[in-house]
Amino acid sequence: MNRFLESIYFRHSCKLFDEDKKIPKEVFDEILEVGRLSPSSFGLEPTRLLVLRSDEAKAALRPLCWNQPQITSASEVVVFKSLQNDLVPPSNYTKQSTFRRKPDLGAYQAFCDRLGGYLRERGLDSYESLSHWSAKQAYIMATYMVAYASYLQIDTCYIEGYEKKAVEELYGLDPFKEQVSLIVCFGYRGKEQQQRYRISLDDLVEYR
Ligand SMILES: Cc1cc2nc3c(=O)[nH]c(=O)nc-3n(C[C@H](O)[C@H](O)[C@H](O)COP(=O)(O)O)c2cc1C
Repeated sequence: MNRFLESIYFRHSCKLFDEDKKIPKEVFDEILEVGRLSPSSFGLEPTRLLVLRSDEAKAALRPLCWNQPQITSASEVVVFKSLQNDLVPPSNYTKQSTFRRKPDLGAYQAFCDRLGGYLRERGLDSYESLSHWSAKQAYIMATYMVAYASYLQIDTCYIEGYEKKAVEELYGLDPFKEQVSLIVCFGYRGKEQQQRYRISLDDLVEYR
């Protein structure tokens, strides 16, 4: 079996991490770099990461995450924040993003037309849909990071079980600007992986 496939079998949702085993900083930096290089729709890079390393920061978050022990036992807890209103053109954010590639007002106007048309056509310009669209980009980044962590034999757990409004309040976020879209824990397993249940390939795939 090749190393990548091995890491896919290695990955499971780790419910309890070994509190005494910390991920070396230079290794976690690589996981962050993999996230940084992940793709995003229109190249807008709408995700920002809050990395919790201290016991205090993790302890403050745990009660807002259904008291799940992953939060305090993990080595690193990453809170994925997703930009909101800045993504709707025209905005300084979209302008800077375009100018980075090509500092040209005409090109920016064309980009605004394309992005604005895309958001309108899909109904993504409303407050709620925009939040889902932005969150999707965070999930892609998270999955790159989780896959790479597994490759390094580092365990992970995605966490959707949190009180969104309360977590946003904890970090003082203005939900029109930034929302919490996902939390992922990274560390080393504290007990063995349980059996995995999946539908069969036949149930999963249809060929035409
Ligand atoms: C987006 C997402 C959110 C999840 N949230 C939680 C969570 O809050 N707590 C938890 O224990 N597991 C959580 N899980 C783990 C799933 O329950 C798990 O992936 C599923 O049962 C399959 O098991 P496996 O990941 O071990 O293969 C989440 C998984 C995903 C993909």
